[in-house]
Amino acid sequence: MAETPVTAPLQPQKSAGGASGVDSADIQGLVRFGYKHYTEAVFLLLRVREARAARAWLAGASVTSAVEMKPLPDYALQVAVTSDGLRALGVSADIIDGFSQEFLDGMAGDPSRARRLGDEGPSDPKYWIWGGGDRVPHCAVLLYALPGGLEARRLAVEAQCAAGFDLLQRLGTTDMGGKEPFGFTDGISQPLLDWDLAQPASDRTQLEYANLSCLGEFLLGYPNEYGLYTPRPLLDPSRDAQGVLPRAAESPERADLGRNGSYLVFRQLRQDVSGFWRALDRYAGGNAGERDRLAAAMVGRTRTGQPIVDPSSVNLNDFTYGADPEGIRCPLGAHIRRANPRNADLPAGAPGILSRLIRTLGFDASARSRDLMSSTRYHRLLRRGREYGTAVSIDQALAGAATPAEVGLHFMCLNANLQRQFEFVQNAWIMSNRFNGLHDESDPLLGNRMPGPGATPSDGFSMPQSDGPAGRLTAVPQFVTVTGGAYFFLPGIRALRFLASA
Ligand code: HEM
Repeated sequence: MAETPVTAPLQPQKSAGGASGVDSADIQGLVRFGYKHYTEAVFLLLRVREARAARAWLAGASVTSAVEMKPLPDYALQVAVTSDGLRALGVSADIIDGFSQEFLDGMAGDPSRARRLGDEGPSDPKYWIWGGGDRVPHCAVLLYALPGGLEARRLAVEAQCAAGFDLLQRLGTTDMGGKEPFGFTDGISQPLLDWDLAQPASDRTQLEYANLSCLGEFLLGYPNEYGLYTPRPLLDPSRDAQGVLPRAAESPERADLGRNGSYLVFRQLRQDVSGFWRALDRYAGGNAGERDRLAAAMVGRTRTGQPIVDPSSVNLNDFTYGADPEGIRCPLGAHIRRANPRNADLPAGAPGILSRLIRTLGFDASARSRDLMSSTRYHRLLRRGREYGTAVSIDQALAGAATPAEVGLHFMCLNANLQRQFEFVQNAWIMSNRFNGLHDESDPLLGNRMPGPGATPSDGFSMPQSDGPAGRLTAVPQFVTVTGGAYFFLPGIRALRFLASA
């Protein structure tokens, strides 16, 4: 489906949302907040058993909006649906068809997608606990609570849902104090959303890497970084007789089912914490300092979050890789360099008008080769994951403790275009063993170590040096296994009520 150009200067709709016209009351809070104060969380994956009762619950569920509230309510509740869920709720096929193809197909819907996402070998959807075969959830209820408040709330929500839904999976989470299970500080780098719609709709002058993203990269119904509207179901208003839905900004004669909604990628990623630290200890010959150095090289940050490309970076996020084109300070294949290469429309190079002109016109061959990756502004992800299971310390891992069956990351991210954002990052940057001129290696944390096209290996890891051949790790084991996953639509709150009345 082609994206719709902005036909008129951006005129955000007038609404309850304040000066910018963004209606925070219609947006689910997860888009705006990481819910860090809610240290407890549980994710309920549901399947519709009785559509009428399921719709009745969705119509009345007290979904938390993106309006800032003080004091903080005791809990937050978010609701998302899969395309199977929309069908099970009885939403008309022609309306569902307006969503993106990736969402319609589902994360595990076809072997070619599974291969592109790296869901092969032990991560094959046929082994998943949920998300594969007949275990695709219809609805996800994400429940967050202040310390001590989750259990009572969960029991209440489960009781309310019981009439319409079967509980497919209850996914608990663990507060690991801001660290992911390998022990690294997580949640540092996030795109900054242009909530004020202050950024020009298609900013051709923004050539350097910047962290501000157009709202349309994460919310449907607003212009994205191309200055276009991402396709979504736009309905004849006769389908919305009650006038529940907002109107489409670019075609006000249509009711907009997508506006203020986002796609939610949810993957359960099991982490072999003991395997990770024992492998690094082997590579380091038992030297603790070297072990830490290798681990930081794989992530691109130290365990406390310092970016290794610029350890002096004060706010931990104010850096690019422009001064390290060879990957000497931070390996080209480090997890955070793959997941966000921080490059821009203009290849990096010397300052000055002449140099800039040469690079803009594409005459600088070395700059061109550095710019083989697409500009990152079109491939940002808003991460909202939570850790789960039993934490294992490095000491426990090295002392021989086995990784518990249950430990890892409930990876979640929001994006407006599953193909251009999540799938691109996962496939072309994280899993690819040809990323950025590399070969024989994929993401050191996430790679499935399966041979790539032409049976090329993907289990190496290279660390270029300024004064000699690159340091190289070989036969890196698999540390992360996918055990579940699905694509959800996190609707705007009005859209959720509309779907519930379908
Ligand atoms: C178990 C799996 C994973 C682990 C342990 C992990 C760990 C980390 C860590 C430690 C950071 C640095 C802290 C930060 O900047 O927030 C990070 C950043 C990041 N990760 Fe992951 N991650 C995992 C899965 C993924 C997946 C599946 C994706 C996307 C498909 C992803 C995308 C990113 C992105 C976009 C960043 C920020 C990069 C930047 O802007 O500098 N991660 N991850």
